[in-house]
Amino acid sequence: MDLFEYQARDLFEAHGVPVLPAEVVTEAADAGPAAERIGAASGGVVVVKAQVKVGGRGKAGGVKLAKSPEEAVEAAGQILGMDIKGHTVGAVMIAQGAKIAEEYYFSLLLDRANRSLLAMCSKEGGMDIETLAEERPEALAKVDVDANTGIDDAKARDILEQAGFDADEVTAIAPVLVSLWDVYKGEDATLVEVNPLVKTEDGAIIALDGKVSLDANADFRHPAHAELEDKASADPLEAKAKAMDLNYVKLDGNVGIIGNGAGLVMSTLDVVAYAGEDHTGGKASPANFLDIGGGASAEVMANGLDVILNDEQVKAVFVNVFGGITACDAVANGIVSALEILGDQATKPLVVRLDGNNVEEGRRILADANHPLVTVEETMDGAARKAAELAAAN
Ligand SMILES: Nc1ncnc2c1ncn2[C@@H]1O[C@H](COP(=O)(O)OP(=O)(O)OP(=O)(O)O)[C@@H](O)[C@H]1O
Ligand SMILES: [Mg+2]
Repeated sequence: MDLFEYQARDLFEAHGVPVLPAEVVTEAADAGPAAERIGAASGGVVVVKAQVKVGGRGKAGGVKLAKSPEEAVEAAGQILGMDIKGHTVGAVMIAQGAKIAEEYYFSLLLDRANRSLLAMCSKEGGMDIETLAEERPEALAKVDVDANTGIDDAKARDILEQAGFDADEVTAIAPVLVSLWDVYKGEDATLVEVNPLVKTEDGAIIALDGKVSLDANADFRHPAHAELEDKASADPLEAKAKAMDLNYVKLDGNVGIIGNGAGLVMSTLDVVAYAGEDHTGGKASPANFLDIGGGASAEVMANGLDVILNDEQVKAVFVNVFGGITACDAVANGIVSALEILGDQATKPLVVRLDGNNVEEGRRILADANHPLVTVEETMDGAARKAAELAAAN
C-alpha cells in the first residue's frame, strides 16, 4: 500500500525523523487558519502541497508557496480538485516553509532481483531523480543494505560517504538515516523515499517530502495500518472482493476470469489476451485477476462470480480450474450451486474448462446440469477463444 505524503510525514515523526509542522485540509477556506498556525514560526510562509499518490506534483503545479493565510487559501483553491496525472486532488497539506540551503536524495527499498535491500543516496536531490540516475549515475550512490543488520550509525556513514558528503555533513545526516531505517523496519515498509532531504540555512536536516509503501503481507503485525487505507478512492469491486477475502484485481477488459492458483490465473490472463488479439481483433481481453485458491467451495465460487458479474465491463466469464486437492467434481458442483445461489443475477455466458483430478465426473455434472449460460470446453486455448468470442460478440 502506497501512502500519502502526510501519512508518510506522520510515520516519520513517530520514528524520530525530523519533519516540518503540517496540517491537512480538504476545504480551501480551512487553509487560512491552518496557515496561520503553521506559519507562525516561519514568518507566515507555508507551502501548500497536493496530496496525491503520484510523483511530479511540483512540476504539475501541485506545490505552491504562500506568504500569508490569504495566499494559502488561494493556493489551496487552485490545487484542490486539480487533476494530476489522472489523480484528483482531494486534500492539501499546509507545511511550514523551510529556508532551504541544499536538497539531497535518500531512499531505501526492497531490491528483489538482488535479494537484498538497497539504499540510494545523492547530494543532488529535489530534481527528477530518474533523470539524474540515467544521465549521471555516478552522482547517485547505490549501497546494499543487509536486512538483518539494517542501517546503524556505521552503515549510515558508509552510505553518506559513498554519496560524496563531507565529514560534517555525514555527522549531521547519519542519525536521520538511522531513523529512516527505523521507519522501514518498524512499519514493515518496502519503500521509504525522501526527496528532498534538505539542509536548512541554519544547518538542520529535515525530510521535506516522503514516500512510503507498506508491505501488505505484514498487515497482521500492524492493526494501525488499516486506518491508512484510502477507502474513498478504492475500486468498489476490489473493496467488495476484499471483504469476501478474495484475491481480486480489476483490469480493463471484458472477459471475467476465475481460476484456482495464482500461476494458473496468470497464464489464463495471457491466454485470453492472446485469444482476444488472434480471434477477435483485440475486442476481448481480461477484465480481472481472480484466484479462488485451493478449496474452491460453492460459496467461494459464488462470491467470485458475484464480484465478476457485477463488473459492468464483463461480457463473458472464463472459469479455468485445475482439480488437485479439490477434485473437478467438487468444483463442478460448486459452479452449479453458485449459479443456483446467484439465480437471476447470473446473466452472462460462462465458459468452463476443467482438468485434473476426477475431470470426467466434473464434466458429467456440468453436462447434466445443462445450464443455459454454461459452455464446457476441454482445452484452455479452446475455452479462452470461446470466452473471447462471446465477450466480443456481446
Ligand atoms: N515546506 C517547504 N518549504 C520550502 N520549500 C518546499 C517545502 N516543501 C517543498 N518545497 C520545495 O518544493 C519542491 C517540491 O516539493 P516536493 O518534493 O514535496 O514535491 P514533488 O517532488 O514535486 O512531488 P513528488 O515527490 O510527488 O514528485 C521541493 O524540492 C522544495 O524545493
Ligand atoms: Mg519530492
